[in-house]
Order: sequence, then structure tokens, then C-alpha cells
Amino acid sequence: MATMESLIGLVNRIQRACTVLGDHGGEGMSLWEALPSVAVVGGQSSGKSSVLESVVGRDFLPRGSGIVTRRPLVLQLHKIEGQSEYAEFLHAPKKKFTDFASVRKEIADETDRITGKTKQISNVPIHLSIYSPNVVNLTLIDLPGLTKVAVEGQSESIVQDIEMMVRSYVEKPNCIILAISPANQDIATSDAIKLAREVDPSGERTFGVVTKLDLMDQGTNALDVLEGRSYRLQHPWVGIVNRSQAEINKNVDMSNARRKEQEYFESSPEYGHLAHKMGSEYLAKLLSKHLETVIRQKIPSIVALINKTIDELNAELDRIGRPIGVDGGAQLYTILELCRAFDRIFKEHLD
Ligand code: GDP
Ligand code: NA
Ligand code: MG
Repeated sequence: MATMESLIGLVNRIQRACTVLGDHGGEGMSLWEALPSVAVVGGQSSGKSSVLESVVGRDFLPRGSGIVTRRPLVLQLHKIEGQSEYAEFLHAPKKKFTDFASVRKEIADETDRITGKTKQISNVPIHLSIYSPNVVNLTLIDLPGLTKVAVEGQSESIVQDIEMMVRSYVEKPNCIILAISPANQDIATSDAIKLAREVDPSGERTFGVVTKLDLMDQGTNALDVLEGRSYRLQHPWVGIVNRSQAEINKNVDMSNARRKEQEYFESSPEYGHLAHKMGSEYLAKLLSKHLETVIRQKIPSIVALINKTIDELNAELDRIGRPIGVDGGAQLYTILELCRAFDRIFKEHLD
């Protein structure tokens, strides 16, 4: 367990170091590609950002009606020991954010910096790292919502642009998909499920999440979906009750929201028998367990890739000559050290 956790932690730090070097999972060999991440997919205002926040257990994402998330947000959670938590953006290195309201403001400002205060979107991701004793090592990706029509101030191609952007993330075999469908709309026609089924026909990396259970019409419920009769997935469906807009406006905090959510399920005549398998905390546990399984399966290929990276970095460092003072060189050393640490722990404990 402890070994797995330190390996996942190292993988996370290697990813982070690669990001700083400009390896964002683009062309060619990439450590990013080898490692799992979790992306949210769904229609606009289906509750994607709210679900991500709940999984993390912190309030830091812009949420609301209309198109709020307009750039991909790549969020890396790093578990640290015995320190107070802070956040850091790739675009503002060395600035430590300790107040999560200011993280939210920075995401909004940084979104506007590329797109202006418009309803347009951009493919350029925002990279955010959160260091905390209270998180699991995990990479999460928040994405703009799938839409059906362009609105005033958007280009005609925006519907396809968003779909292509979302697809570029979720088609990667290492992407775990959180397919978000609001309970107050027909799940059979859910954009999230439609796209997830296209890129992951077997459903092995798709988690179906139903939000807004509290907003369903009186006399209806989502049991057919939650119990897997409407649409079968390999993983169990999870129902969620996020904060309403009124609660967001009233600044209801995360722990209160989670307690209310749990109470909702426990006291519900329809969902009471499922209460232990519903809600944000359960989803977070399910995800980290799945992630551990995936990483365990991938360790041989990660080790191979890391050894290849060590060789390449050694060659690169020989080429530029040591010792070196420039930042890029120091970064290569960092990655090299992390890769060696991974290899060492792997050999000592798991080989
Ligand atoms: P996104 O556009 O998919 O990222 O959705 P957001 O997380 O920004 O949420 C959109 C709006 O729906 C916000 O006003 C949320 O308060 C509201 N919302 C999301 N999930 C729920 C839910 O489970 N119940 C209720 N009542 N409102 C929700
Ligand atoms: Na929204
Ligand atoms: Mg959003």
C-alpha cells in the first residue's frame, strides 16, 4: 500500500516536472501518455466542475450557469506530509496560493487572458497543482461542456470545436472518463454517455455519474439508471447531489455540502438502500481504488518508459555538458532523479 502510494506520488511528480519542460502529452514519447488521468465529460451545466471539486474536497473552481469553463484545466493533486496546503499554477511559478477563493479567481482571470471576457473557448490548458496532506495523488481534467448550438458571441463552429477538444482528451487509452449526466434530463440522450461509448465501447474506463438527483420531477427517480438497468457500464453508476446555485451564492462550504448530500441519500425513500454507494466521497474512493488498479497494471510499461527516459536524459545531459546552470538542465536532473527513485522503489519492493 505505502509502496504503491509512493510510486503514484513519484509518477505525479514526474508528470509535473515534464509539464514544466513542455511535455504536455503531445507528440511522440511522453510520460504523460503512460499515466492515467481522469477527465469530466458532459453537457454544459451538467455539474462537471462541481463534481470535480467534490472529488478533490476543496472549493476552487469557477461554476455556474452558461459556459463558465472555457479552457481545459489540468489539475494535479499531490499528497504531501505534514504541511499546510497550497496551490501553484504553471503560468505563475513560485507564487503559492493558500487561499482557494483566489485560486478560483486566478482560473477565471487566466481564462479571460486568452479568450477575453467572451463566450469563446480555447484549447490551451491551464495547469494547476494542489499540494495537500488531504488529497490522493491524481490528475484531473476539467473541460468545457458539450453544447448543441452556438450562442450569441460564439463562432458557428463552437459545437464541433468543443467536441473535438473533449475528444482529444478522452480518446487517450489512459484517460478515465467521468461521464456526467444530469438526472433532470433524459440519460439515454446524454452527450456524455454518447461520447464515452464512442471512445470507450467496452466501458472499462468510463464511470457514469448522475448529478442533480434533487432536481428531478416529483414522482420520478433515477433507479433504473443507478441500478444499471437503463444503460450498463462495467463500473457502477454513482448518483450525486452537488450544491445548487442558491447554495453556491450563499457560500455553503464543502463539508456542509457533503453532509447534506449524505443526508439526502440516507433519508431518501428511493435511494436509501443505495446510500453507501452514492455521493461524492464514495465516487472519490471508487476513483482512487480504480486508479491504483490501473497503475498497478501499467507499472511494467511505466518502468520501461522511465528507463528509456533515464537513458535519453543521460544522453541529453552529456550532449549539453555538465555541470549546467540553466533552468532546463536543472529540470532534466530533477526528472532524472525522480525516475531513478521510481526505478529503485520498484526494484526493491515490486520487481
Ligand atoms: P458544468 O458547467 O458542467 O461545469 O456545471 P457546474 O458545476 O458549473 O454547475 C452548473 C450549475 O448547476 C451550478 O449552478 C450548480 O450549482 C448547479 N448544479 C450542479 N450540480 C447540481 C446538483 O446536483 N443539484 C443542484 N440542485 N444543482 C446543481
Ligand atoms: Na456551467
Ligand atoms: Mg464547468
